[in-house]
Amino acid sequence: MRGAALAPGGKSILALPSTAEEGQVSRIVPLLDYGAGVTLTRGDLHYVVTEYGIAYLHGKNIRERAMALIAIAHPKFRPHLVQEAKKHNLIYKDQAFIPGKRGEYPVHLETRRDMRDGTPYLVRPVRLSDEGLLKDFFYSLTDQSIYRRFISRRKDMPHERLQEFVVIDYTRQMILLATVTDEKTGQETVIAIGQYGTDEETHTAEVAFVVRDDHQNRGIGTQLLAYITFLAKRQGLLGFTAEVLVDNEPMMRLFENAGFDLSRRREEGVYELTMRFRGAE
Ligand SMILES: CC(C)(COP(=O)(O)OP(=O)(O)OC[C@H]1O[C@@H](n2cnc3c(N)ncnc32)[C@H](O)[C@@H]1OP(=O)(O)O)[C@@H](O)C(=O)NCCC(=O)NCCS
Repeated sequence: MRGAALAPGGKSILALPSTAEEGQVSRIVPLLDYGAGVTLTRGDLHYVVTEYGIAYLHGKNIRERAMALIAIAHPKFRPHLVQEAKKHNLIYKDQAFIPGKRGEYPVHLETRRDMRDGTPYLVRPVRLSDEGLLKDFFYSLTDQSIYRRFISRRKDMPHERLQEFVVIDYTRQMILLATVTDEKTGQETVIAIGQYGTDEETHTAEVAFVVRDDHQNRGIGTQLLAYITFLAKRQGLLGFTAEVLVDNEPMMRLFENAGFDLSRRREEGVYELTMRFRGAE
């Protein structure tokens, strides 16, 4: 492991099953046992991999490390790990968490896409451990993009607000991230977010999108909308709703191009859009 960490471009990867003793104990633990022999230091470790995913730990702070490791622990041990991590001040005291199936990362929804110029990127559901990545993403956006996305002048993104993006009930809501990963450093960067939240009464979902300014107009928004439409139809939804500023041409174009039965109501400077999937009853 040390050799890998020291080698030029080397990456150390620790792969382990998330549990031991036939699933009875978690191999990811809040604390080491008293007197435990430690052979590997955090400075030498880049990745930890279990059957529940990959935690990239290099250069991360304690809170980020704890959340990344909890995210790849066996789901049945996660509530306990969250509780213990709070107790030891490793994570936020108010860290929200959705236990059980509803909060389980749907790995099967990960998919690859290419931008219009052929640059590949990953589309994946948001993870509990993505708070840091999302913070960087939101602070990278121009004021105009922030305003168009949130229809609000508010620009700060504290933990309480970011948490709403990472702690989600995947059965009712979906937040998809488009990301690229630097081959050399392994650092993943978010370039876009597409999301929907379902309204159980109307069987529709409210959607919203935002693409990093330097990646706009490269086809990412169109592809995210297509993927989200596919997921929403599969879930039996009848259509989408959205609020778009009347001067937001790119977003209107994107929705108009998508082939929905679109109706709009103008309320002050905002269009309230209703988009029914064609063929939906
Ligand atoms: C709106 C947004 C999500 C679109 O994503 P995108 O990846 O840039 O969109 P695409 O590249 O897929 O292009 C979609 C359409 O918009 C058009 N478009 C993109 N950028 C444009 C611009 N600056 N001016 C005019 N049209 C533009 C494209 O030409 C395309 O239409 P076409 O296929 O008819 O040519 C993105 O611009 C964005 O993040 N904006 C800021 C946040 C926002 O407005 N969110 C919407 C809140 S619901």
